[in-house]
Amino acid sequence: MKPIQFPENFLWGGATAANQCEGAYNEDGKGLSIQDIMPHGIKGEPTAEPTPDNMKLVAIDFYHHYKADIKLFAEMGFKVFRFSMAWSRIFPNGDDTTPNEKGLQFYDNVIAECEKYGIEPLVTISHYETPLNLAKEYDGWHSRKLIDFYLNFCKVLFARYKGRVKYWLTFNEINSILHSPLMSGGIMTPMDKLTQQDLYQAIHHELVASAKAVKLAHEMMPGAMVGCMILAMPTYPLTPNPDDVLAALKTEQKNYFFGDVQARGYYPKYLNDYLDEQGVHIQMKPGDEEALKNTVDFISFSYYVSACETTKPYIPSEGNLLGGAKNPYLKESEWGWQIDPVGLRVVLNEYYDRYQKPLFIVENGLGAVDKLVPDGKGSYTVHDDYRIDYMRRHLIEVGNALRDGVDIMGYTSWGCIDLVSASTAQLKKRYGFIYVDRNDDGTGTLERYKKDSFYWYQNVIKTNGVCL
Ligand code: BG6
Repeated sequence: MKPIQFPENFLWGGATAANQCEGAYNEDGKGLSIQDIMPHGIKGEPTAEPTPDNMKLVAIDFYHHYKADIKLFAEMGFKVFRFSMAWSRIFPNGDDTTPNEKGLQFYDNVIAECEKYGIEPLVTISHYETPLNLAKEYDGWHSRKLIDFYLNFCKVLFARYKGRVKYWLTFNEINSILHSPLMSGGIMTPMDKLTQQDLYQAIHHELVASAKAVKLAHEMMPGAMVGCMILAMPTYPLTPNPDDVLAALKTEQKNYFFGDVQARGYYPKYLNDYLDEQGVHIQMKPGDEEALKNTVDFISFSYYVSACETTKPYIPSEGNLLGGAKNPYLKESEWGWQIDPVGLRVVLNEYYDRYQKPLFIVENGLGAVDKLVPDGKGSYTVHDDYRIDYMRRHLIEVGNALRDGVDIMGYTSWGCIDLVSASTAQLKKRYGFIYVDRNDDGTGTLERYKKDSFYWYQNVIKTNGVCL
């Protein structure tokens, strides 16, 4: 068998999102985002105002630590750093006509730090942080008006960062709107009151906005590459019973639909049939179908878990928004997420066969409780062999997929520095190579400490994946 070989220009790095790391939720003109009133993650009700128990208001204070943090990323050898630009930092209400200059200056500075170390920025335009005003006044993406507000935001970003940011993602985990319409789509209507009609209409607005952003990016920034971003979760039939196989296929299609539109440029027939069955009729405006033809340049995705599907009653599995039936062959993390490195190879092969476009793994990692211990040199560290083991096993499967012939642009591990969890809003669910001293009761010095995985990943990058 050929040895595993990562391409010379493979983009190794890490990923974050503004609302989970920046803090400074109301500094320098930033408006509120939906995250500022979601202290419990996807579970629990949003609050009327930001409350002190909301870990995201301070998060890990990346807003004031970005220089030192990016320096640490550079020390690990990052080639790429994925982060999002908080919409409400730049357009505090989302529907403002002029941007907040101070918000833009922050991202000028972040990019300048990346440039100092030769790190490519990979920017997520919208990562679960819709401006709160757009959620309250328009019910988020339920309203078609969001398309124009989003494109205004894009226009400002593309004009400002042209030539400095080559890689862009339009919406984080666009398919997650099916399961968390508030977090993903800024939709305030409670999920049990949201009709399928309204949900799929909101999805249509996002898909049109995404396609128009691709067009705009290509016009304004020749050479830029824009990707979609999908929450990938391979769904296996729980048994070989053909009913389970068909059920798994149907579940897969509900997720495939998003990438299919973004990569192929039209609604797939299976989705139109499904919508007909549900009595859903998407309102298209003239020009929408034409706009959808602006397909993405690459396919990016997050990968944490796989799941099973069956038509019979089942024991449910946990996952970052999606779930399914528990797989009896897999172990799980402390948060009940089933660990399936081979599933990553499956996803890579399936997506590449389906789209024939380069793939980018922009999230993967293990959320775990870490124990800070003295490092014997006057500082502290975490012996996170469990995280190293998780990542090593996943990266071996990335290597195997490369050997299968899949075109993979890069890998950014999720939460390369500890940050606040999206689903549970906890900080004790840590993903980083860098430990941040902050606890869920708000205590902590915000000091940063290198974990064992920091040095392991540094060596992986240095050897371009030879030493996993
Ligand atoms: C993805 C999101 O769903 O998974 C991230 O894009 C999120 O924002 C990550 O943090 C891990 O999930 P969690 O709930 O453990 O933070």
